[in-house]
Order: sequence, then C-alpha cells, then structure tokens
Amino acid sequence: MTDTEDIEELKREIAKLKKINAKLISRVERSYDQQPSAYALFETAIALDNQVRRRTQEVQQALRSIERANEDLRRAKEQAEAANLLKSSVLTSISHDLLQPLNAARLALSTLGSFEMGGDETGLIDQADRSLATLEELLRTLLDLSKLDAGVMTPDMRAFPIDDLVASLVKEQAQGAAKRGLKLRHFGAGRWVTSDPLLLRRVVQNLIANGLRYTRRGGVLVGGRARAGRWTVEVWDTGPGIPEERREAIFQEFQRGEAGEHGGQGFGLGLAIVRRLGLALEHPIDLSSRIGKGSMFSVSLPLAEPPKAQPAARPAEPSLAARGPLNNARVLVIENDAAVLSAMAALLRRWGCEVETAPSGDEAAEAARRQTPQAIIADLHLDHFERGALAVAKVRRAVGAPTPAMLVTADHSDTAAREAEEAQMTLLRKPVRPAELRSLLSYLLSQPRA
Ligand SMILES: Nc1ncnc2c1ncn2[C@@H]1O[C@H](COP(=O)(O)OP(=O)(O)OP(=O)(O)O)[C@@H](O)[C@H]1O
Ligand SMILES: [Mg+2]
Repeated sequence: MTDTEDIEELKREIAKLKKINAKLISRVERSYDQQPSAYALFETAIALDNQVRRRTQEVQQALRSIERANEDLRRAKEQAEAANLLKSSVLTSISHDLLQPLNAARLALSTLGSFEMGGDETGLIDQADRSLATLEELLRTLLDLSKLDAGVMTPDMRAFPIDDLVASLVKEQAQGAAKRGLKLRHFGAGRWVTSDPLLLRRVVQNLIANGLRYTRRGGVLVGGRARAGRWTVEVWDTGPGIPEERREAIFQEFQRGEAGEHGGQGFGLGLAIVRRLGLALEHPIDLSSRIGKGSMFSVSLPLAEPPKAQPAARPAEPSLAARGPLNNARVLVIENDAAVLSAMAALLRRWGCEVETAPSGDEAAEAARRQTPQAIIADLHLDHFERGALAVAKVRRAVGAPTPAMLVTADHSDTAAREAEEAQMTLLRKPVRPAELRSLLSYLLSQPRA
C-alpha cells in the first residue's frame, strides 16, 4: 500500500468515526430531551432540601422558645405555689392568733353586758359584739379557704339521702325567708348521693343563702335532676340575675356586688368557698342566669344506690320520728339563749324525743326531779358565769344517777375543749349540725348505765 492509499484509508476511517460520533451525540442529546424532568427534579430536590433545612431551623427555634416559655411558666407556677403556701401559713397563724383575743373580747363584752346598765350602753355592747362576731366569722372563713387551698381538708365521702340534707337547710333558713316575704321551697326526689355531707352542706347552704339575700320578690326553690348517673342539686332564685361578664368574677374571693336587698352585705367569700369545696369534692358547680329573671346555681354529684333496708322512696321527714333510739327518749336541754333553746327543742321533738328545757342548773335540777332525763345537753357557758359541766353535775345529784351528757358551745378555743375533757363529756361545737347531734345523742342513749 502506498502512502496516498494509506491517507485515503485513514480519511475514510475518520469520516466514519465522525458519523458515529455525530450519531452518538444526537442520541445522547435525544435521550436528554426525552427526560427533561430529571434535571428539574434534581434542582427541585436541592431546593426542597434547602427549604427543609430552613424549616427545621425555624421549628427548632420555635421549640426553643416554647421551652423557654415553659420554663418561665414553671417558675411562675412554683412562685405562685410558694406564695400560696405562704399565704396559707400566714393566714392560719394570723387567724389563730386573732381568734383567741377575739374570743376573749367577746367574753369580756358579755361580762360587761351582765352589769346593770341603761338602754344606750346595752345597745352599744350589742353592736360591738355583733361586729366582733362578724370579724370572727370572716377569720374562720379565711382560715377554711386557706385550709382548702393547702389541701389539708380531705373529704369524707359516703352515701346518704340528699333530701334530708337539703330539707334541714331549708328548715334552717325558712324563718329568715318568711320574714322577708320570700318563698323558700324544696322538692325532694328520694335520691341517694355520694359526697361528704358536711362539706356539701356548706356548698348548698351558701347557694341558698345567696339566693335569698339577693332576691327582692319571689323566692328560692331547691330541686334537682338525675342524669347519666349523677344528681344535680339546683338552687333557683327569682333575683336580679348576674351579668355574663360577672359570672366568673363572683367566684373569686372578695368579689361582691351591690348589697343584698334585705340581707345586707357579705364578705364576697361564699362563692369562693363553694368553688373550692366543689373542687375538693370533685362536684362541678354551674351557674346560669337571666338578667331581671333570676339565677340557677347547681352542684353535680354522683348518685348512689339506696341501701335495701331503708327504701329511699319514702319521704324522709315523717319517718324520722319513728326511727331509732331517739324515739320517746327523755332529753333535758340546759341553755340560756332562748332562741337556741327553742330551735334545739324543736329539732329534738322532730326526732321523737320528749324534751324538757331549763336556762340554768338549778332549774334543770328542778325539772329532772319531776321527770328523770335519759340524756342531758348543756351549753358550756350559762348565765351568771355558770358552767355547763356544773349544771350537769347538779342534775346528776338531783336524780342520783350519772345521766349521760354532752356539752355544746360556740367557743372554739382549746380552753373549752379542755373543760369538756375534764368533765369527761363530749363537746359539740356550734353551729350544731343536726346529723352530728343526732348521732351523738343516739350514742349517749345507747350507753349502758353505770
Ligand atoms: N343568687 C344570686 N343572685 C344575684 N347575685 C348573686 C347571687 N349569688 C351571688 N351573687 C353575687 O355574687 C357576689 C359574690 O357572692 P358571694 O356569695 O361570694 O359573696 P357575698 O354573698 O357577697 O358574701 P358572703 O361572703 O357572705 O357569701 C355577691 O356579692 C352578689 O353580687
Ligand atoms: Mg354569699
């Protein structure tokens, strides 16, 4: 082969290769053209990746600020709890330290009142005593609130007929209602509920008292309804109603509106207590109200099965007298306060007791000689400095038997407790709770005679 032939051969070869190359390039280009999204996808992926990174950073920042906010909240909560605890302990000690001299002041006042005096002075003494009594009540309420806040009041839950509790409250407030020309009615339904009867009593008592205090015309009706295993006690009134924007505030301490039409002004603590008790008992409290029409406060509690032996359907009131060891029991009540005396006698008679009353030890001994009592209820402080325990001793001497006795007092001091302890008698504090009195009296009457 010559050189020229070689060159020609090479040229052909190059031309062929160029063709192949051109074909390959066009193929590659075609294949690119056929998948136009591939690169776009790649670009999108990168853009998304950037976005995800940015978002992640934002989320992380948000998380960090939530954590900071949480930390702030936790600190605020700790501070609030510490403040609450401090408030509770300060209130407890203040209330305690103030209650003692208050008691003393009231005693001194009553001593002063026993001296011969003109009408003006007696009026002033009464006024001072009423103010002190109000102060004492305020302190006790604050003390209770702080106890509820500190969680040291633990409910004692049990099943009981709700009608008895409401009926006794209605009875207590009936006279006051009637004096103001208001109706106070109760519709019972014979249901049993589970609650702490004493704490629940305070809830319903406050609701009824408010209904009466703020109602000018009409009155208060206490009813209830059963739904989904619960019983709702409803206290309806025909009062002024409560504006929407006040409905939350009135449950806070010292939040009070205008003075009640007839019942004067309170402390603004009743509903604060109601709310705290509702929380402690796990009984939701509800309120609905229409301006100019009235309000309905309710408390919802779990229904309980009535025990088989005592059918709940029977109305509780008339059957009370027929039951238990109190029937025909001869009870002697020694009490110098005429209003307390007649109220207690009425209650005891309702339970079927035969009641004798006397304002002093001497008169009680007289009565006991006429008819021997089976139990004695004596006020701790009688007139002319006479002590209840000594009055009981006089009666026991008169009948020549250690008649079972209990002491009753409004004095909540330790001294009163010690005095009762020394006399070996049970002390019942005023305001006397009917259920407590009833069970204590039943217990005394069932004691074997020495
Ligand atoms: N049934 C009601 N109808 C209208 N207003 C009411 C009713 N119950 C409560 N209120 C309003 O709510 C306020 C707070 O009531 P709360 O029972 O807490 O205190 P209070 O009755 O003023 O005093 P207290 O401490 O003696 O109960 C009342 O002052 C009154 O303005
Ligand atoms: Mg009130």
